[in-house]
Amino acid sequence: MSVEALKEEINSLKDELSVTIVAHYYQKDEVFEIADITGDSLELAKKAKESDSQWILFCGVGFMGQSVKILAPNKRVAMPKIACCAMARMIDSTYFDESVKAMERAGIKKEDILPITYINSGAEVKAKVGQMGGAVCTSSSAVKIIEKALTSGKKILFVPDRCLGQNVARMMGLKSAVIGLDSDEDIKAADIICYNGFCSVHQLFTLKDVEFFRKRYPGIKIAVHPECDPAVCEAADFVGSTSQIIKYVKSLDPEQKVAVGTEYNLVHRLRDKNTYVLSSTKPECPTMNETSLEDVLHTLQEIKKGNPINEIFVDEETIHWARIALERMFEYVGA
Ligand code: 13P
Ligand code: SF4
Repeated sequence: MSVEALKEEINSLKDELSVTIVAHYYQKDEVFEIADITGDSLELAKKAKESDSQWILFCGVGFMGQSVKILAPNKRVAMPKIACCAMARMIDSTYFDESVKAMERAGIKKEDILPITYINSGAEVKAKVGQMGGAVCTSSSAVKIIEKALTSGKKILFVPDRCLGQNVARMMGLKSAVIGLDSDEDIKAADIICYNGFCSVHQLFTLKDVEFFRKRYPGIKIAVHPECDPAVCEAADFVGSTSQIIKYVKSLDPEQKVAVGTEYNLVHRLRDKNTYVLSSTKPECPTMNETSLEDVLHTLQEIKKGNPINEIFVDEETIHWARIALERMFEYVGA
């Protein structure tokens, strides 16, 4: 079937079944184009929970679909591919508990720890964070969430993205340390104690790439995602979430050159003659790229047959605590 025929079939089934299709910016162009809702992680979670449809078809990675199910447990959420974010898989509840213990070994009492989890984490980690009084954050809300968390006077345990934690600390003039890399003294002295997780896609952007583009195109702007290494973020002109990067690039004079450090599909969609990918290696998120139009159509057909596939289920207890952590994020950002 041609791309156009697939899209036509998807659109008619989606209307007939009243399914809302949600897609993250990192999806392939043809999948992104059939979505009803697009945005960064914060916008997707908010808009999907508020949609009227009973069924949400989420084109993205596991934690995104799971977050909608947690926020709106009465909705049914299916994913054309159960694709997992590699960073989200770097931590589970056992590793979370180990991180708390590592802070205790460094001399910080458990009651003096407030955990914050990046939304790129599984439901069980969000639930642990909710139980300990903490909140979820996204790349666009991290500074506000940390500001609010610090008013508790506690030490912040930030999981799982080391880079986002370190970048927020730098932007706010705070001290950070990394569990497993830094000494107990450094951990005790830090305001934000980071878990050592990372995004392999955003690790592809290096300081050498920034230097290369600055030398080759004097006056070029550099815009990067906060999952990039702190040295890269420090050298950039702009650091922001996917939506914020798009807004920034679109606000530039059309003649202004800009090199962008985030996933390839997003940058390619933005691309004109003055927009560059900040890497000589194609920065593709393998799991985001798994979803195809055929998968979307197949999932809709199975919903129609009353035989849904790849539906997201989360147990009640986990939903309860994970939802508290997610709702705290909306409360803290005033959304
Ligand atoms: P955003 O919240 O900026 O869309 O980021 C999601 C993500 O996974 C980036 O790698
Ligand atoms: Fe996860 Fe990185 Fe892919 Fe984002 S780009 S979904 S953080 S693996």
